Amino acid sequence: MRILVVGGGGREHAIIKKLKQSPQIENIYALPGNGGISHDAECVNIGAKDIEGIVGFAVENKIDYAVVAPDDPLVLGCVDALNNKGIKCFGPTAKAAIIEGSKIFSKNLMKKYGIPTAEFEVFDTAEEALKYIDTCPLPTVIKADGLALGKGVIIAENREDARTAVKEMMLDGKFGKSGEHIVIEEYLTGPEVSVLSFTDGRTIVPMVSSMDHKRAIDGDIGLNTGGMGTVAPNPYYTKKIADECMERIFLPTVNAMNKEGRTFKGCLYFGLMITEKGPKVIEYNCRFGDPETQVVLPLLKTDLFTVMQAVTDERLDEIDVEFYDKHACCVVMASKGYPQSYEKGFEISIPDELTDKVFVAGASLGDDGKLRTSGGRVLGVTCTADTLWDAVYGAYSYVEKIHFDNAYFRRDIGKRALSALSEEK
Ligand code: AMP
Ligand code: GLY
Repeated sequence: MRILVVGGGGREHAIIKKLKQSPQIENIYALPGNGGISHDAECVNIGAKDIEGIVGFAVENKIDYAVVAPDDPLVLGCVDALNNKGIKCFGPTAKAAIIEGSKIFSKNLMKKYGIPTAEFEVFDTAEEALKYIDTCPLPTVIKADGLALGKGVIIAENREDARTAVKEMMLDGKFGKSGEHIVIEEYLTGPEVSVLSFTDGRTIVPMVSSMDHKRAIDGDIGLNTGGMGTVAPNPYYTKKIADECMERIFLPTVNAMNKEGRTFKGCLYFGLMITEKGPKVIEYNCRFGDPETQVVLPLLKTDLFTVMQAVTDERLDEIDVEFYDKHACCVVMASKGYPQSYEKGFEISIPDELTDKVFVAGASLGDDGKLRTSGGRVLGVTCTADTLWDAVYGAYSYVEKIHFDNAYFRRDIGKRALSALSEEK
């Protein structure tokens, strides 16, 4: 089979490395891929948002199956466009991807179907939003309606910061059209858990849970990033909480999307907060998380392509999706300065024995065949082991052997999870 994977980050590298293990697959093309991915797939310089280009390539190259990984092409209807040409896909249609594409849609969905989430108000004008901010409880959470590269959420501790956020989104157009409408919601507290799931619109199979580390600096301080590291499973996600999530969140969400005529097929990502009143949804994503995928897929025992095909063909109930009873830790090595400005073009050295452990996010291949940094998040370095401690220790021991100038990484990935485990004992 000839497979196409849309996207070019660490998540896509993790998907491709897993797909490569499938005996059914002959060729994998990555659009656009990156310098690291080119060791595992044929990279073609077509951007992930270039729907016409992607479809043209797929038809011309007789692609049998496409995996659309990033949010933008999903929301833009890449799956619809490929399906129209008879190409089977893993990923939701645009109608279903709206669950991530519009926060107003997802908040209203949860309200309508009684799915636990933070209380919220929707605003269409800055004037109304600013008026609400004069009296709302603090801290407060301000969210741009549309996609904003993960930067559209502001937690404001005081009214001044809240006003600034509203003005930037609604008046200054900081996120373009995405910020024309906003949600202001209740501030929740509690540990966060990411749960990725496979769903074909009838059956939902949660994958092993994970914990992201979104802030740039050790101790969960500094700016929000795309994610500086992950561990799986997440110790806060107990069997009791998992059962409650299935009953109150996962199944109701799948059913709600069906009732709305927006059947979701693909990877549905639940960003959850375990509050004192039980688990609540912080966000939905219509795709695999990044860098969650870099710890979840290495723990998947069942052939990924078999699962993906079962999702597409709506027969997920017929297969057993199994995970190894192990732990994984991914440490993101970034460029110093990320998520703000940083320099690029530094040569990366990865010992041969570690290439299997590294998912490349932001690197390109020079004419000399050398890998050089080209993005903020450069590498995701993953270790799987029998215990969380060994996975964390292992990931950091790999990081020590990998070099590029101006490399920056958090030194406490997994620390919170390890202390949660020791509290349990
Ligand atoms: P999101 O892009 O919706 O995942 O939000 C980014 C981060 O903001 C989340 O991972 C949470 O840490 C935080 N956040 C979002 N919504 C809330 C909320 N209602 N209360 C507290 N923190 C939140
Ligand atoms: N790691 C969070 C996300 O993929 O949105």
